[in-house]
Amino acid sequence: MNSEQFKTTYSTDHIKNGKVTYQSPSNIALVKYWGKKEHQIPENPSISFTLNHCKTITTMVYEKRKTIDENFSFDIYLDEEKKDDFKPKIETFFKRIETYVPFLKEFHFTIHTKNTFPHSSGIASSASGLSALASCLMHIEAQVLNLKVDERLEKTSFLARLGSGSACRSLEGELVVWGQTEAIPNSTDLFGVKFPFKAHENFKNYQDTILLVDKGEKQVSSTVGHNLMFGHDFAEARFKQAHKNLAEITNILQNGDLKSFVELVESEALTLHAMMMTSRPYFILMKPNTLEIINKIWAFRQKTATNVCFTLDAGANVHVLYPESEKAIVLEFIKNELVAYCQNGHYICDQIGIGASIV
Ligand code: PMV
Repeated sequence: MNSEQFKTTYSTDHIKNGKVTYQSPSNIALVKYWGKKEHQIPENPSISFTLNHCKTITTMVYEKRKTIDENFSFDIYLDEEKKDDFKPKIETFFKRIETYVPFLKEFHFTIHTKNTFPHSSGIASSASGLSALASCLMHIEAQVLNLKVDERLEKTSFLARLGSGSACRSLEGELVVWGQTEAIPNSTDLFGVKFPFKAHENFKNYQDTILLVDKGEKQVSSTVGHNLMFGHDFAEARFKQAHKNLAEITNILQNGDLKSFVELVESEALTLHAMMMTSRPYFILMKPNTLEIINKIWAFRQKTATNVCFTLDAGANVHVLYPESEKAIVLEFIKNELVAYCQNGHYICDQIGIGASIV
């Protein structure tokens, strides 16, 4: 399998102006993607829980252009406000996918986007945003090509990946694997695939409460972050470890061993941050309150023998993960002991979800 299979040429002459809306969720990685090669190819495999409530909703209006030139033509709005500062990112995305989406310059696109999670919450909207946009574009292609459901999903994920790596894991399935690895048949670096085995009942409706410790702009953009793995002394060992952890979590997700799940997920989160602390230049993205929360979670887990654990993105916010059966006791704990460490007491309750859909 290679990228060539996604290249197509066709005419869109018969396509009229139109409008489409997609909603697409964010996701939280359990085994983390950190480090990439050219063309958004990951250095290691990753797996994530798809979220249910943290979503981007994107409406794309497409109108045939009277004259086509060498430029893309689009406007972008966030919450009904024109966002010209978003344009360079979309422009880069369009450039990267142009060879796979032949009609991009034939239309003017008006893109209206909104997030269900607060803007500037420190939650990255690139996974949900770019997967929603890729879904809207594929709606046009689907009017020309007779794609099977799976083919369409693969290409949507492939395009989303070229916008933001982790976005390819937001399209379909509660658990999505991205990156070629032995443990997962048909896994590929090119797009996300649904976890192909049956997950244990323990993971049904798994909960994720996101504690907003720091709502500021990301201190390290993910592009800069991934680049830190170039020439990193521990890079090769880390990439190898991710394959091992992916094989391990593949078993855990099927046998429901929550103790092992907790250990693996927390270790992955701390490894991601350890990579940042040991790169040149180096960064500490955790805040004092991130550590307070981690210590509280460890003490609570010990005291109650529950399976609550944490994971982290490339930032200070904490994702608190726990089984649905422990929801009442853990939410009580979060309200009583953790909310005090959140900026303005803000947190978001989410749970595992199924992916993107047309609205
Ligand atoms: O998709 P990007 O380039 O924003 O990278 C995301 C990296 C992490 O969120 C830290 C890990 C992951 O696998 O999602």
